[in-house]
Amino acid sequence: MIKKVVTGVYILAMAIMVSSFHQNQISASIARGKQVYNKVCLSCHMIDGGGVPNINPPLAQSSYVLGDKKRIIAIVLNGMTDRIAIDDEYYSNNMAPHSDLTDEEIANVLTYVRNSFGNKASAVTAAEVKVVRSMKK
Ligand code: HEC
Repeated sequence: MIKKVVTGVYILAMAIMVSSFHQNQISASIARGKQVYNKVCLSCHMIDGGGVPNINPPLAQSSYVLGDKKRIIAIVLNGMTDRIAIDDEYYSNNMAPHSDLTDEEIANVLTYVRNSFGNKASAVTAAEVKVVRSMKK
């Protein structure tokens, strides 16, 4: 009986440690991603992710940002020049490819974007970026 309790407490403690470790990893990724954002993306998408009307689309509450991770990873790697509606608006500027960024940097910046400006979505990992990068060759 005591053994069971001890094992139960042990498992619970491990679960808490693993989940807080995971949370710390995400916080670190968001902090590093913010630096990439400020250097590379801010000039167009603005400090609050609000974009510039009719020129650069907002990242705040964007269905792209909150949607399929592969699609936004591909946008950062390949840029975006399609004149398609983004949440019912059109934008005249082009986004250049940012394939010079590392898998880590792209994962971090997208994790930051998906968890800033009022957005809340799961983290992007370097492994996910690597898969999309390898598909584009
Ligand atoms: C030169 C200005 C510019 C820079 C720098 C830039 N973007 Fe963009 N971005 C755009 C434009 C313009 C579009 C839409 C292009 C279109 O409509 O074809 C876009 C589209 C997007 C989209 C999809 C649409 C949306 O609003 O959700 C995402 C996501 C995105 N950019 C993220 C980023 C990230 C992350 C960075 C930094 C690594 C970045 N962009 C850097 C101009 C820029």
